[in-house]
Amino acid sequence: MGKKRVLIVGNGGREHALAWKLAQSSDLERLFVAPGNAGTALWNVHIPAQEIAALVEFALKEKIDLTLVGPEDPLSLGIVDAFQKEGLRIFGPTQAAAQLEGSKSFAKVIMESAKIPTAEWKMFEASEQAKSYVKTIGAPCVLKADGLAAGKGVIVALDLETALRAVDEIMEGGFGSAGKKLVIEEFLEGQEVSLLCFSDGETAYPMVPVQDHKRALEGDQGLNTGGMGTYSPPPIWTSEIEAIVMRDLVDPTLKVMRERGTPFQGILFLGLMLTAQGPKLLEYNVRFGDPETQVVMKLLKSDLLPILWACTEGRLSEARLEWKEDVAVCVVMAAPGYPLAYTMGVPIHLPELKDQDKVIFHAGTGISEGQLVSTGGRVLGVTAEGTTIHEAREKAYALVDQIQFPNAHFRRDIGVKGLETGQ
Ligand code: AMP
Ligand code: GLY
Repeated sequence: MGKKRVLIVGNGGREHALAWKLAQSSDLERLFVAPGNAGTALWNVHIPAQEIAALVEFALKEKIDLTLVGPEDPLSLGIVDAFQKEGLRIFGPTQAAAQLEGSKSFAKVIMESAKIPTAEWKMFEASEQAKSYVKTIGAPCVLKADGLAAGKGVIVALDLETALRAVDEIMEGGFGSAGKKLVIEEFLEGQEVSLLCFSDGETAYPMVPVQDHKRALEGDQGLNTGGMGTYSPPPIWTSEIEAIVMRDLVDPTLKVMRERGTPFQGILFLGLMLTAQGPKLLEYNVRFGDPETQVVMKLLKSDLLPILWACTEGRLSEARLEWKEDVAVCVVMAAPGYPLAYTMGVPIHLPELKDQDKVIFHAGTGISEGQLVSTGGRVLGVTAEGTTIHEAREKAYALVDQIQFPNAHFRRDIGVKGLETGQ
């Protein structure tokens, strides 16, 4: 294939990691990131990710060969449909297929028709019925706002009182239209693993498995966040588990989506719980994870561009995917106060990096009067590679300690779960 002009949509750590990887592609002519952050400054275009019409116009004007969408919002808003209508090639699911993430009840319906192992669930539109159901099943249970709520619409209630309060919080509280419908489900116990798969609608190829650390504080305490750090691969994962997940969860999902006339092209990201009864599906995401992508891109040996291209042509089965044997760890450094109200504009000083085994991926960063500053909640993804979890952790934290970012919030225990599992 000839050299390609590629546009990445988004501005987080995930998009920096994708840009970093695509910039190494031998098939790349020119890269653009809309709107990007200070880490992707070389390639930035000042168009926000939700401004679909402006992005279409830009892609037409710049003769973009392939667009890659990072965040879920533009996908749920139909960016793929809008690009395809103009004959533009884009990697990602259509609006109809993106409902796998955009609506928890839609996801559950698909899981049911594909006979996918998942938590028992029920959907409610009235709080009285929801409360009497909660009283019947008791605690622990899990309550989820139906629509997109930036990862904050899920409440794991360990006692009945919290569960009843959660019904009110979701249905009458601050979730807006996302909280009109409420899903209540069985609490599953086990370790969580994120499995991201490339999909062309027919074939799916898994990436290396990842463990995210969603809670704000060490020991998985505190509030849920977008993700405070990742490592890959977790020792708890085996090729047997992977074979079961591909056969019983991923392939049946793709089949049902095809049968509905809404084939799934893009990243199918499974949030899994490894329970005593086997892997069960917590949720689908329809995009690269953040900060999963930072470690996955660090470990991907193959060129990313031909893989994405093959997906858009329905020829993924012809693509080659090779992974490094190493372990990668990504420690998220967040703004002081995150995930609650946080400080913006904190000046940051980064060390020079000489070795290939470390990368500092930017997320909420910008330049103000020539100075690198924080502009968001999650600010940096400090990523390192080593032959063991121990080595990758040592390298990542040594680098964290060299970064000047006053009062940054980060966890010291990213990857410790993997050490405890015993490898
Ligand atoms: P979700 O947005 O659905 O991934 O939920 C956010 C987090 O809530 C997950 O990463 C899990 O830690 C937890 N969670 C969601 N559903 C369940 C469940 N059925 N059982 C136990 N924990 C859950
Ligand atoms: N890190 C979890 C997500 O991207 O949804």
